[in-house]
Amino acid sequence: MLAAKDVHKTYFLGKVQVYALRGVTLTVPERSFAVIEGPSGSGKSTLLHILSCLDRPTAGDVEFRGASLGQLDRVGRARLRGKTFGFVFQKFNLIGNLSAQENVELPMALQGAPVLDRRARALKALERVGLTDRARHRPGEMSGGEQQRVAIARALVNDPEVIFADEPTGNLDTKTGRQILDLLRGLNAEGKTLVVVTHNPEIAALASVCIGLQDGKVVKERSQEVTSDEQSCPARVA
Ligand SMILES: Nc1ncnc2c1ncn2[C@@H]1O[C@H](COP(=O)(O)OP(=O)(O)OP(=O)(O)O)[C@@H](O)[C@H]1O
Ligand SMILES: [Mg+2]
Repeated sequence: MLAAKDVHKTYFLGKVQVYALRGVTLTVPERSFAVIEGPSGSGKSTLLHILSCLDRPTAGDVEFRGASLGQLDRVGRARLRGKTFGFVFQKFNLIGNLSAQENVELPMALQGAPVLDRRARALKALERVGLTDRARHRPGEMSGGEQQRVAIARALVNDPEVIFADEPTGNLDTKTGRQILDLLRGLNAEGKTLVVVTHNPEIAALASVCIGLQDGKVVKERSQEVTSDEQSCPARVA
C-alpha cells in the first residue's frame, strides 16, 4: 500500500511561494488502479512525483508498504525508483539522440544489467507495446503515440510493481489513446498497481480509486469496485 500523509509541497521562487500541495492524505491499495484528476495547476504532477519518490515533500510523508520514504537513504530511494517503481512522464522525457531500444535500455543500464540481457529485455518491452519495428528509430522519427509507447516500455523494463503515469494519453488521438488504455488495463490485470493522472474519461472509468485534486488539496477520494456499465470516475471534479 502507498499512502500520503498530510503532504505539503511549496515551491520557492525568489520571494514568491507557490503552495502546490496543501495537506494531501490518501491511500492507494496494492493492485489498485488509482486515477488522479483535477484542473491544470491543481498539483497532480507534483503529487505523482512525490508519491513515486522522484521528489520530496516540504512537509508530511509518503509510506510504501509501511516504510516511510522520508526515512530512506539515497540508495534506498534510488532502488525504489529504479526497480520497484516505473514512471511515465507527462512529456515522455525520451533522449533525442538515442534509439527507442537504447532509451528503453537506460533504466537497466543504470541498474548495471549486462548488455545482452539489457538488449533482450528492451526488445521484449518494445514488443509488448507493439513497437518491435521501431526499435532503431529515434524519438524524432516517431509519432507522439509511438514515443509515448516507448516511454511506457521504458517504465516497464525493470518489471516494476507500481507504475506511475502522468497523462499518458494527453497528447494522443482517440485510437492511439485506446491502445495505451488497453496496455494499462493489461498491466493492472497482471497485478501491478497503477497511479495515473488523466483527463481521459475512458481511463477514469477503469479506476478502483479516484482522487480529485483542487488547489493542492484532495476534494474527493473514493474507492470502488469497477462495474462494466460505469462511464466515468464517480469522484471526478466538475
Ligand atoms: N518546479 C516548480 N517551481 C515552481 N512552481 C512549480 C513548479 N512545478 C510546479 N509548480 C507550480 O505548482 C502548481 C502545481 O503544478 P503541477 O505541475 O503539479 O500541476 P498539474 O495539476 O500537474 O497541472 P497540469 O494539468 O497543467 O499538468 C502550479 O501552480 C505550478 O505552477
Ligand atoms: Mg501535470
